[in-house]
Amino acid sequence: MTDADTKAYSGYHHRDIPAEDPELTHVGPGTPCGEYLRRYWQPVAMTNEVKDLPLAIRILGEDLVLFRDQSGRLGLMHRHCAHRGASLEFGIVMECGIKCCYHGWHFDIDGRLIDAPAEPLGSPVRNKVVQGAYPVHEEQGIAFAYMGPPDKRPGFPIFDTMCLGTDAKTFSLSMPANWLQVYENTQDPIHVLHLHALSSGVQFGAASGVEQLIEYRDTPLGMMNIQTRRVGDHLWTRTTDSILPNGNQTGAIWEEAEGKKIFQRVSMLRWMVPIDNTHTMTIGWRYFSDALDPRGQDTPDEVGKESIDFMGQTAGRAYEEQQRQPGDYEVQVSQRPIAVHALEHRVTSDRGVSKLRKILRDRVRAHSNTGEAKMPELNEEQQVATYCQDTVYPVTVLEEEQDLMRQFGRRVADKVIETDSHAHSKRAGLIEAMCESEFGQ
Ligand code: FES
Ligand SMILES: [Fe+2]
Repeated sequence: MTDADTKAYSGYHHRDIPAEDPELTHVGPGTPCGEYLRRYWQPVAMTNEVKDLPLAIRILGEDLVLFRDQSGRLGLMHRHCAHRGASLEFGIVMECGIKCCYHGWHFDIDGRLIDAPAEPLGSPVRNKVVQGAYPVHEEQGIAFAYMGPPDKRPGFPIFDTMCLGTDAKTFSLSMPANWLQVYENTQDPIHVLHLHALSSGVQFGAASGVEQLIEYRDTPLGMMNIQTRRVGDHLWTRTTDSILPNGNQTGAIWEEAEGKKIFQRVSMLRWMVPIDNTHTMTIGWRYFSDALDPRGQDTPDEVGKESIDFMGQTAGRAYEEQQRQPGDYEVQVSQRPIAVHALEHRVTSDRGVSKLRKILRDRVRAHSNTGEAKMPELNEEQQVATYCQDTVYPVTVLEEEQDLMRQFGRRVADKVIETDSHAHSKRAGLIEAMCESEFGQ
């Protein structure tokens, strides 16, 4: 038999499906990745979902209940009551904490048992029993929880892009797929050209469909990809950052790179939060401004629960439409409930995915081995500087174009990283000064 004979019609020899990569994909209590993720504040719900009734949620494989007590505090607890397991989603929200509907056990938001009304006065149960609870931090319409060891709780990180005063709406989208395949899509910029322009018609800005030079770089928060394109007589460099363990930012959705701009910030800050091993919630802020959306293509009214204003991110489309115009939802869900890395053929264009997995694996292992998780440094304003931006600059030299494009992308990325100890307001000026001195004409 020739080599060609053995390759043709060889489905019979390719039927085995090996196990997934548990080190990076399993998130339950006690798993290496699950414990690593628990060391960081994780967004768990939009606060507009928390009304007068408790909200049943599932995060990192744990069944929980989130509620706002009558004094306005958010509580997050294990869902099953410590008495005999009834769900606190049927509980009664109190002035202070929540009361289980079954026998009236009453817990403060930190899980301490305040009262067990069916027990005799003086019963030791009140001092002995606790309901598992987690601290909650409320930030601009999102409830964040810390689900790690209590003595390791970090301060809540304020990211620079949260503080720009840009109009924001919260959103939360769920997907029946493992968190890692949703997260690593953000370091797969090649798919923007194929999935979002060539395969399905142009889904985002037309400039996204222009061929791009792509490089990847470590950042203090994780990594970034550097995408550089020529658009007319400008060079456009977009840096897209991964904020480990599971945060991501994205530039303007409909960017057309029509004119000079320096260090334009993000259209989204979001986290891919594991609901469990096979479900993921993408939750965060969608930002709106004239600069981010000069043509008025954003539709803030469509942004919220299971809804966002660009296509292909949610369930619910007709199957034929999914097939004719697949989006991120269709490709990520169809990679299997947990993508099987051992079956992949990763190539040059997957360098970003491979790099992200490596950084993540290194951090998961370091955490397992030392008990320490890398926390972000703060800039001069006590914020966490981030690295996602768009810079568009007039550069008209045509000779050795690829080298020039690559050099421009690298130097913008250098400056975005080098300026990270400064306040956001100073960084654009420093980046512009570099553009002028090295690429100005
Ligand atoms: S099960 Fe909750 S009070 Fe009895
Ligand atoms: Fe995408």
